[in-house]
Amino acid sequence: MDSNNIIWKRKYVFAMMLSTLCMMCSCCNERDKEILLKFKEGVTDPSGLLSSWKQEQDCCQWKGVTCHNITARVIHLTLSCDYYDVEEDEEYNSQKCLAGDIILSLLDMEYLQHLDLSYNDFSTISADSTVNSSTLNYIDLSYNNNLFIKSLEWLSQISSLEYIDLSNINLHMETNWLHWMTVLPSLVELYLESCKLEDISPSLEYANFSTSLQYINLYDNYFHSELPKWIFNLSSHVLKIDLSRNYFMGQLPNTLPNLHSLTWLALHDNYLNGSIPDWIGQLQYLAGLSIHDNYFSGSLPTNLGNLSSLNILMADGNLFTGVVSERNFAKLKNLKYLFFESPYITFDFDPLWIPPFQLERLYIGPLHPTLPQWLYTQTSLYFLLIQDSKFSFESANNNNNFWRFASTVQHLKLYNNTIEGDLSEAFLNSSIIVLTSNNFKGSLPRLSSNVVFFQVNNSSLSGSISRLLCHSKKSNNNLQYLDLSDNNLSGGLTDCWMNWKSLRYVNLGGNNLSGNIPPSMGFLSNLTSLHLHENNLSGDISSSSLQYCRSLSILNVRENSFSGNIPKWMPQSIRIVQLRSNKFIGNIPIQICQMPFLIVLDIAYNRISGHIPKCLNNITSFVDMHYSTSWIFYKFFDGRDFFTYRDDLILLVKGQQSKYDSNLKLIRMVDLSSNNLTGTMSPQLFSLSQLHFLNLSHNRLTGTIPKEIGNMTQLESLDLSKNELTGQIPESISSLSFLDNLNLSFNNLSGQIPSGTQLQSFSELSYIGNVDLCGPPLPKNCSNHGDDTKTLGENDDDGDESDFLSSLYMGLGVGFAVGFWGVCGAIFFSRKCRHAYFRFLYDLRDRFYVLLLTNLNSFH
Ligand SMILES: *[C@@H]1O[C@H](CO)[C@@H](O)[C@H](O)[C@H]1NC(C)=O
Ligand SMILES: *[C@@H]1O[C@H](CO)[C@@H](O)[C@H](O)[C@H]1NC(C)=O
Ligand SMILES: *[C@@H]1O[C@H](CO)[C@@H](O)[C@H](O)[C@H]1NC(C)=O
Ligand SMILES: *[C@@H]1O[C@H](CO)[C@@H](O)[C@H](O)[C@H]1NC(C)=O
Ligand SMILES: *[C@@H]1O[C@H](CO)[C@@H](O)[C@H](O)[C@H]1NC(C)=O
Ligand SMILES: *[C@@H]1O[C@H](CO)[C@@H](O)[C@H](O)[C@H]1NC(C)=O
Ligand SMILES: *[C@@H]1O[C@H](CO)[C@@H](O)[C@H](O)[C@H]1NC(C)=O
Ligand SMILES: *[C@@H]1O[C@H](CO)[C@@H](O)[C@H](O)[C@H]1NC(C)=O
Ligand SMILES: *[C@@H]1O[C@H](CO)[C@@H](O)[C@H](O)[C@H]1NC(C)=O
Ligand SMILES: *[C@@H]1O[C@H](CO)[C@@H](O)[C@H](O)[C@H]1NC(C)=O
Ligand SMILES: *[C@@H]1O[C@H](CO)[C@@H](O)[C@H](O)[C@H]1NC(C)=O
Repeated sequence: MDSNNIIWKRKYVFAMMLSTLCMMCSCCNERDKEILLKFKEGVTDPSGLLSSWKQEQDCCQWKGVTCHNITARVIHLTLSCDYYDVEEDEEYNSQKCLAGDIILSLLDMEYLQHLDLSYNDFSTISADSTVNSSTLNYIDLSYNNNLFIKSLEWLSQISSLEYIDLSNINLHMETNWLHWMTVLPSLVELYLESCKLEDISPSLEYANFSTSLQYINLYDNYFHSELPKWIFNLSSHVLKIDLSRNYFMGQLPNTLPNLHSLTWLALHDNYLNGSIPDWIGQLQYLAGLSIHDNYFSGSLPTNLGNLSSLNILMADGNLFTGVVSERNFAKLKNLKYLFFESPYITFDFDPLWIPPFQLERLYIGPLHPTLPQWLYTQTSLYFLLIQDSKFSFESANNNNNFWRFASTVQHLKLYNNTIEGDLSEAFLNSSIIVLTSNNFKGSLPRLSSNVVFFQVNNSSLSGSISRLLCHSKKSNNNLQYLDLSDNNLSGGLTDCWMNWKSLRYVNLGGNNLSGNIPPSMGFLSNLTSLHLHENNLSGDISSSSLQYCRSLSILNVRENSFSGNIPKWMPQSIRIVQLRSNKFIGNIPIQICQMPFLIVLDIAYNRISGHIPKCLNNITSFVDMHYSTSWIFYKFFDGRDFFTYRDDLILLVKGQQSKYDSNLKLIRMVDLSSNNLTGTMSPQLFSLSQLHFLNLSHNRLTGTIPKEIGNMTQLESLDLSKNELTGQIPESISSLSFLDNLNLSFNNLSGQIPSGTQLQSFSELSYIGNVDLCGPPLPKNCSNHGDDTKTLGENDDDGDESDFLSSLYMGLGVGFAVGFWGVCGAIFFSRKCRHAYFRFLYDLRDRFYVLLLTNLNSFH
């Protein structure tokens, strides 16, 4: 002890002397400084992150630089960018981060051990000499999303490397990555997530990785093959393997691999099939097994229940069959997460079974015909999702017991079940409650002030909403999201909204509600989305309390009996105005032109008269492609995690109702059809270059179609039918290459349909009812023009391709029920953590969802 103490003291005195010295001279090694300044030269630094990097300063004091406390040589360089733009969903914004070139001569700093440049926006990496480092053991260049590295040979020369993270760097040209990684003698952790890797040498039996290798992560690459043989022949020291979200197919090997110490095996989101081999039950240290979203079949091996270390079991989204009982979980005393849902499975639990575990998260289904009793033993349950089940509670007592239990779960989801339950007497207390698509009867439950998110859409609830809204006179409610759509609710909107001021989203659509907008709705100053569609509501909105809801972005009252004028008070923030199928009268107010974010203006099927305002081209998002692209999303906290939730909307486009959710932000639409509009269509109307859908049909518009229509290059659908338009169809229409729906029928148009264009690819129905119109596709010949039959071929093909593309972009996602993960989660701690967590939990099910995001991003 004493001698240690003395040594320590000496060291301390020495260090003190050094630090005193430091105050007098510069500590920084000149060579290190020179290298760092050279690196800085090639870097673009929009936010001045490197502003402390000045020649005259000690480089050991520069941001991101750490020197050894005795030798004063640079040992760490950490310039990870953690700028995160919450406004942009889970997209993060690296615009404020470092960009440019990473020079590998950084590695010439002879004592550098740790290099972290992750989450920046570097685009190139360059070496002007051979890489020579014998000290670097940690390199993290991950999430430089625009970085493309052709070869990893240089990396293989740094024999001291123990930790490599190149996730989200494009490595698709590097077909030899496996070789370069296996020559590193000290490698412990390897992360190559989302690197676009293709070749994994599936038939190689043995990959000579360092015997120290513990983690190998190849999540989300482009491997299309059987699982590689070498993976199951890695050394028995390997602890974690992640091959999830690839295109692996075939089966797991039959024989127990070498991997005795494995603690984490992730194979989810692949195309694996066959049954789960028995040897899984012998991986005694396994803490996490994630095999969800594959095609695994057969029954679950019984000896899985031997895995007493198992913490996380995620096996939903497969084709398992057979009976699952308590035997499958017999010894899982450490289980915290159990995700096991499979349509063909039968759960058969002993009613007296008391599980050895206390779960935190449970996703289970189908449960039939009753709820397993052991559920009630799970008193630590934080998250409960029951899906595709069919049961009734048999007695009122059971019903009440269930809701009492459910109220102890913070995050409750009963999704797509046939649960015969009665919510009338329930008093719900979870933060997040999603009861979508069940068979609930009775009236609405009461909510505690703890509830933040309440969704009970698509059920059979009846009665008045006052039960829910008026029972609490307190104003400390935290409810932000209320969705009661598609039930049988009736009565008025009640005047109790002043107790629910935190509401941001209200959806009461698809019920039998009647009456006016009550005054107390004006208290909802944070209300962003209001959906009242498909009810029987009436009264004059333009003078209603909604004018005080200054945060409103989405106003959807379609299919009601509202009357009066179109409101002039729309807040600046408005993005979607959907008033179709009501009894609105009067003119279109020019105030609408002052709404820069407006993307959907749908006032069809009303009694609007007067002219179409000329100023619509003042609406910025209709003319500027880069405007209004960030989207409203709601962020919720369930006590542990943040969730984001997007809005969605049914739009009638091209004669079809389609649901738009994450792609809603890309839509630009004006529908003024079936009103009583008069006057001509101004050329300004046709300068809305970003518009996708324009419908002015069934009005009394006169005049000609201006040639400026050729400027609407994004137009996919144009309907001007049933008006009184005259003149010729302008040739410029044919330059609308995305147009796949055209209706000019029943006007007084004349002359020849411009020939030799994709205008001929539309059917006759697009043009009929114009007595003086002629030429193909109409049967009527144009007597003055002999050259009708010009070649049509090439343009037809163009038309088809753009059809395809546009329907791909616009239609994407329509069919993808956002499912139980509809809440697309993100956690807002450090970026790294957020990613890891996001991956781990939420990215689970929604392969499509992520694909969708990717596609839409590349569309930009
Ligand atoms: C110097 O750094 C070493 C580790 O690198 C640490 O153990 C030691 O406490 C440090 N000494 C001082 C005086 O900070
Ligand atoms: C690599 O660096 C070491 C000192 O760090 C030096 O001795 C050696 O010659 C260098 N090798 C090459 C090829 O530059
Ligand atoms: C594992 O690798 C060894 C070579 O080290 C080889 O002999 C053996 O066949 C491999 N086993 C499997 C199952 O591929
Ligand atoms: C694996 O690599 C080590 C050096 O890293 C070498 O000694 C050994 O011979 C190699 N084994 C095989 C089977 O290639
Ligand atoms: C597994 O999938 C492959 C094709 O990927 C197929 O040939 C094979 O029959 C399937 N096996 C089982 C057991 O379903
Ligand atoms: C594992 O489970 C099987 C079947 O349930 C059982 O026979 C075996 O004894 C258990 N123990 C071990 C260590 O495999
Ligand atoms: C409205 O939103 C703001 C900002 O998000 C928040 O600070 C405020 O508490 C909200 N108001 C109510 C009544 O919840
Ligand atoms: C056009 O927009 C600007 C700002 O968005 C607004 O000040 C102006 O009044 C608008 N013009 C018309 C005619 O609405
Ligand atoms: C349309 O407007 C005209 C006046 O411009 C009016 O006479 C007519 O009744 C209106 N039609 C409808 C259906 O409202
Ligand atoms: C629109 O079209 C007209 C005539 O086709 C053209 O003169 C004008 O430059 C185009 N662009 C805009 C932005 O109006
Ligand atoms: C809901 O259940 C029905 C039938 O049980 C099924 O067809 C549908 O795919 C399910 N929806 C979701 C989102 O799971």
